[in-house]
Amino acid sequence: MKLWGGRFTKETNQLVHNFNASIGFDQKFYKQDIAGSIAHVSMLAKQGILTDEEKNAIITGLQGIETDITNGTLVIDGTHEDIHSFVEAHLIERIGDVGKKLHTGRSRNDQVALDMKLYTRDEVVALDGLLKDLLLELHKIMENNLDTYMPGFTHLQKAQPVTLAHHIGAYFEMFKRDRSRLSDIYKRMNYSPIGSGALAGTTYPLDRDYTASLLEFEGSTRNSMDSVSDRDYLLELLSALSTIMMHLSRFCEEIIIWNSNEYQFVEIDDAYSTGSSIMPQKKNPDIAELVRGKTGRVYGALMSLLTTMKSLPLAYNKDMQEDKELTFDAIDTVKGCIALFTGMMATIEFKKDNMNKSARNGFTNATDAADYLVNHGVPFRDAHGIVGQLVLFCIEKNIALDDMTLEEFQAISPVFQEDIYEAISMETCVKKRNTIGAPGQEAMKQVIEENRKYLNE
Ligand code: ARG
Repeated sequence: MKLWGGRFTKETNQLVHNFNASIGFDQKFYKQDIAGSIAHVSMLAKQGILTDEEKNAIITGLQGIETDITNGTLVIDGTHEDIHSFVEAHLIERIGDVGKKLHTGRSRNDQVALDMKLYTRDEVVALDGLLKDLLLELHKIMENNLDTYMPGFTHLQKAQPVTLAHHIGAYFEMFKRDRSRLSDIYKRMNYSPIGSGALAGTTYPLDRDYTASLLEFEGSTRNSMDSVSDRDYLLELLSALSTIMMHLSRFCEEIIIWNSNEYQFVEIDDAYSTGSSIMPQKKNPDIAELVRGKTGRVYGALMSLLTTMKSLPLAYNKDMQEDKELTFDAIDTVKGCIALFTGMMATIEFKKDNMNKSARNGFTNATDAADYLVNHGVPFRDAHGIVGQLVLFCIEKNIALDDMTLEEFQAISPVFQEDIYEAISMETCVKKRNTIGAPGQEAMKQVIEENRKYLNE
């Protein structure tokens, strides 16, 4: 059934129908479409625009359609233009002429704006749940690895020793911000557009706030032209999804490096690795690589919708139909990536000895040797120069600072005493860094406790 055949004298060209149709993808929100229609007719009846019998007949019909689609007895086919036409046509087929009253005081423009918002709102909640599961997993790793030493890097060069708990804690903060971004978006988007009509409201005495409350919105939107053409919430969501992917991608990059033959800081579980068709020895980090790779398509969705929206005059334009496939794809991609990444992290093995050995090499305690001198009255700039000489000496002899004899230390600066060894031991280097946010165990315990409370909220 077409919703608009009356003023046409010719059939739609088949290619035009195919090009124009959105049912191939907007069927994804049939449940939201039906929920929106039920709320709409409930409001129409409350306002005396429909009788209670009419309302009940329509709601029963809509509920039957939803059940049948869900259990597969009603198959959504391509003969209808979109999910809205499909549902309306089947309603009329089921309950007769009264079904023709469903669309009273409504346009597909406010209808689709509502459906997309309802769908996105559910997905924001689902995404938040997945991020929380990931955080719970990361929190476990943090709790168990306060004393797992590893090198911290800048420029991918060993810099100062940290712990695995501290390194993972950095990602914990990122995903925490991602959740907070989603919650901001949820709050801002949570206003109902239904009742805005095609663009200029309607002449019926609709109670928009009532429909909004039935659908658990905070309220109704305040400008009907904006309501039918606002896609800001999708742009905000795609931007938040892009940031989530950027975080996952950075994490994946590290896992790939850590999993490399050269590093061997981790071993990805067999269940989360793949093999090579030719090289029997291979065990590849494909999941981490794919998550990293899929970041591009989520960024693409954001750029695509920004570009689609950039020159659209008010109010609704068909261009906006393009918001769907890319948003659905981005949401599904990110949900899949978070879930897989969480599974990979839950099963990954940390090779603590290798991390520890790596942290002991590479002069990660050089800053602490300089701090030792400063604590003994040497100005920092001089201390920096002295430790530079120590490092040069060690590089030539291929040893670590800890391996130097006291005589060798004192030959470069007489300030060094026996307690230098204790001062530059890796354990000391970490333990002494206890300002909040630093890797020291005391500081980390406090953060872990705060995070535990946050996860229990
Ligand atoms: N499929 C359309 C979309 O997704 C529904 C709205 C159609 N409105 C219209 N005036 N043609 O945007």
